[in-house]
Amino acid sequence: MPALTDTFTLSNDLRIPKIGFGTWQIPDGSPAYDSTRAALDAGYRHIDTARAYGNEASVGRAVRDSGIPREEIFITTKCPAEVKTADGARDAFEHSFDDLGLGPVDLYLIHAPWPWSDMGSDHRKGNIEVWKVFEELYSNGRARSIGVSNFDPDDLDSLIGATDVVPHANQIRWFVGSTQPETTRYCEGRNILVEGYSPLATGRLLDNPDIKAVADKYGKSVAQISIRYLLQKDVLPLPKSTTPSRIRENADVDFEISADDIRTLDGIDAGDV
Ligand code: A2P
Repeated sequence: MPALTDTFTLSNDLRIPKIGFGTWQIPDGSPAYDSTRAALDAGYRHIDTARAYGNEASVGRAVRDSGIPREEIFITTKCPAEVKTADGARDAFEHSFDDLGLGPVDLYLIHAPWPWSDMGSDHRKGNIEVWKVFEELYSNGRARSIGVSNFDPDDLDSLIGATDVVPHANQIRWFVGSTQPETTRYCEGRNILVEGYSPLATGRLLDNPDIKAVADKYGKSVAQISIRYLLQKDVLPLPKSTTPSRIRENADVDFEISADDIRTLDGIDAGDV
């Protein structure tokens, strides 16, 4: 399916498959192993994990066992949000690198600008310290691209103003009705790819009657319309599922939503979902 092999191009010319398989909340062991294998069997070539998900070892094993050449698969992982020192970042990367067992990481992200236990707290200095380690990993080829997650324009400004490499990507929560327009515009203006996690609002969009009405016109599911919406906005969707039939369904999005129907979807309010 073209949507699985089409690519966005990062600002450093690295190509990244347009749909990634999200593994947040998929437990380590057979759930993560089996769903990653199912995604690879379905044709996904981009897998998104994180140290904090605790499933890197299973994801890595699934990729190795698949027999698909490593260079055909794009792997993202993330440095835990709590890590805000250079030593901590080096240590976290080594653990991810070893657990994945896949050689260089294709994209390495700072998971969040602040620890989850203290969202919104000021870690500008710590993020710069961590980013300098990311720049080392990028320059020595152990990370083929580097980026951030959950950063807003202020977080990005303070990082970019004090460091050399502009992040290649920013992974944020992005779905119909919750599209973070300011951060998205900021990133577009600086050639930072926006990746959208929870494109189905962790499942909450699936019952939305307004999206269902659009989906019925195309003979598609709410999930497919919701994922396709991101692609038409040049945002990279990271749908998650542990169900093989849904994993396949979520990648079967080679159709076009009309401009009128995109406007209808634009008008859906986050409060509705
Ligand atoms: P499951 O993993 O049991 O298949 P998000 O990608 O926004 O995080 O949403 C993930 C949630 O949506 C999971 O609970 C997943 O359930 C569910 N889901 C994923 N794809 C589909 C689909 N095509 N149809 C229905 N539910 C889906």
